[in-house]
Amino acid sequence: MARPWIEFLYAQKLPWNTGLYGGARADVESKILSIDYTAGDSSTLIRYPAGWERTAPEVLTAEEEFFILDGSIEINGRTYARECYANFPAGYVRESACSPEGCVALTFFDSEPQLYDDQSVEYDKKDLIEFLNTFDMKWDSATADPSLEWMGNRRKVLKWDREYDQKQTFLFTTPPHIYPDNWACPTLTHPCVEESFMLSGEITGPFGRMNEGAYFWRPEGKPHGPFGTRGGGFTFIRFKYGAHVNVWGKNDVPYHFDFEYNPELPPNLAHLGDAPYEGLERF
Ligand SMILES: [Fe+2]
Repeated sequence: MARPWIEFLYAQKLPWNTGLYGGARADVESKILSIDYTAGDSSTLIRYPAGWERTAPEVLTAEEEFFILDGSIEINGRTYARECYANFPAGYVRESACSPEGCVALTFFDSEPQLYDDQSVEYDKKDLIEFLNTFDMKWDSATADPSLEWMGNRRKVLKWDREYDQKQTFLFTTPPHIYPDNWACPTLTHPCVEESFMLSGEITGPFGRMNEGAYFWRPEGKPHGPFGTRGGGFTFIRFKYGAHVNVWGKNDVPYHFDFEYNPELPPNLAHLGDAPYEGLERF
């Protein structure tokens, strides 16, 4: 089984639950954005309450990739503030951790995160990204597809997929006033999963206008677009489980900025598909 198609939901509309699935952190709150119930991998928001701390070492059975959305968390003496990023392989030891002011972290597990008793688990050091302050990184405008140059995107690559030799996790910006030439272009399809969380701004496409907190998990083989934005968008993106190849549709699809919210949601999330963004808090 894989994760269901979600395009798109507002993270703010999901309730916070006590604890984290897998049982490793009973004293946080979390909300699962998407999950493969068979394999256990997920994309999850974790809220660490102010004053949270771990004084004993913690080792997880899953890889934990995270990006701080709010507040800060200190792990092994290093402070991860807003927009800091890390990727800890399964087996990475957190000797200590705390969050004096509280923290919200966009977090990705590659399987169900359970506690390891063993603190000497081997892992490939090439999988470890211990700390990135993404503010200190420079934007680049490299693109693999000249057909997308009109979008004017810039990116900061956070994690490289060694299996497919491509960017896997990255920050992505689109400037304001972007729309296809003549207000039409073909759809795009990839043989990989595309996952996105809107950090700020907006991006508009046939499923509606994605504002801050909009999240999608788009399985491989799903045609999407066209996209554009009036005000510009700042997005956290991951490509997973396949090659990021752009397969363009054969026909132009009309574009405009006024698509109504019309999401693709699995039955257990269908109730989130009503009126979208207006009036929502940040989380
Ligand atoms: Fe795409």
